[in-house]
Amino acid sequence: MRGGWAEIDRWLEERIPLGPLRQAALHKTVPVHRYSVFYYLGGMTLFFFAVQVVTGILLMLYYRPAPDGAFESVEFLMTTVPFGWLVRSIHSWSANLMIFFAFVHMASVYFMKAYRRPREITWITGCVALFLALAFGFSGYLLPWNQLSLFATRVGTDIAGVVPGLGPWILRFLRGGDRITGGTLSRFYGWHVAILPAMMTFFLGLHVLLVQTLGMSVPPAAEKEASERRPMRFFPNFALRDLFGWTVALGVLAALGALLPWELGVKADPFAPAPPGIRPEWYFMFMFQTLKLVPGGEIAGVEYEVLPILGFGLGALLLVLVPFLDRGVARSGRSPLFTAAGALGVTYIVVMTAWGYRSWTPIYVVLGLAALIVLIGWVTRGREGGGQA
Ligand code: HEM
Repeated sequence: MRGGWAEIDRWLEERIPLGPLRQAALHKTVPVHRYSVFYYLGGMTLFFFAVQVVTGILLMLYYRPAPDGAFESVEFLMTTVPFGWLVRSIHSWSANLMIFFAFVHMASVYFMKAYRRPREITWITGCVALFLALAFGFSGYLLPWNQLSLFATRVGTDIAGVVPGLGPWILRFLRGGDRITGGTLSRFYGWHVAILPAMMTFFLGLHVLLVQTLGMSVPPAAEKEASERRPMRFFPNFALRDLFGWTVALGVLAALGALLPWELGVKADPFAPAPPGIRPEWYFMFMFQTLKLVPGGEIAGVEYEVLPILGFGLGALLLVLVPFLDRGVARSGRSPLFTAAGALGVTYIVVMTAWGYRSWTPIYVVLGLAALIVLIGWVTRGREGGGQA
């Protein structure tokens, strides 16, 4: 039988010569040090994205993007289609987990200073992927066409409309008109199932390709340790650890989907009064809460509200430019100012989110995650000798 496989292999290699690529993959290694556990976070984010693609395609088979059919098609899916409720639930949970892990992955590569030369473009493509993930979340929220999603989208797009100069244009571009109508729904659907997936595939493809060709970076704080320990082989040692994590994640997703199914709410009625408790998805909460704290009024013809909106825009721009702004890390391998700014940013996001929900849960989530990462780091630590390159 071995001879049979070798024969097939030779036949394929002659027609699809991937030999050099395969050799490179087989020789790829992963540095081993006390922060190696953070190398699993990007792969975990990728796993949730793959789940989104598969479950999203299944949902598309039943979903109808029109005001007189969207809610009913999701209702049909949840009550009549075999396992439809589970697929929808998993799609919603996985969307949230993907965004959560993208944030955690970004924070980890930020504090490990993995954006240093030559990984500037890896960082930028990662930022774009995160913004696209947020856009996926925003556009997907409206699709079930329920009361909460309609009003939250109204508030969200209203905020974009406040931007001086470009605001009204952005608002009409997002809504496909002045109000949220069936036109908005089909527009959001187009973004959600065609434009954003195409963009995400391109940027993530580039991101992962760069990671594969440049290899994993070693944080400045662990350079000595990594040079003293033998790196781990990517195939099979690291890949199997990745696979183990994905299997656990699939179990968690199935459990969450089954035990805490996603609700559908009541059908959207654009003429009804705004329902109580309109709020965005949790990942926009820190911005929403910031805006809620701003008093009404204007200065020199500019509404106060505009200032934090522009502030968040500027923050996003600075985030993209981090590899070019942090000159210290290139010179000395140290940039305490950027570490402090990062810690401040994370604290701001967590505290504002907790405040927005009037709940300690976001803080518990962060503490629980930190404990989990320490535990996984301990379980997956490489040993001297067996299993390493
Ligand atoms: C949104 C979805 C994303 C996916 C699916 C993804 C996927 C990955 C994967 C599989 C890796 C290799 C394993 C690892 O180091 O964790 C990686 C590395 C990396 N990612 Fe991402 N990523 C995403 C978002 C981001 C974001 C938002 C940033 C930062 C702005 C980012 C920056 C990086 C950098 C700099 C590396 C190289 C790490 C190193 O060499 O040590 N990624 N990503």
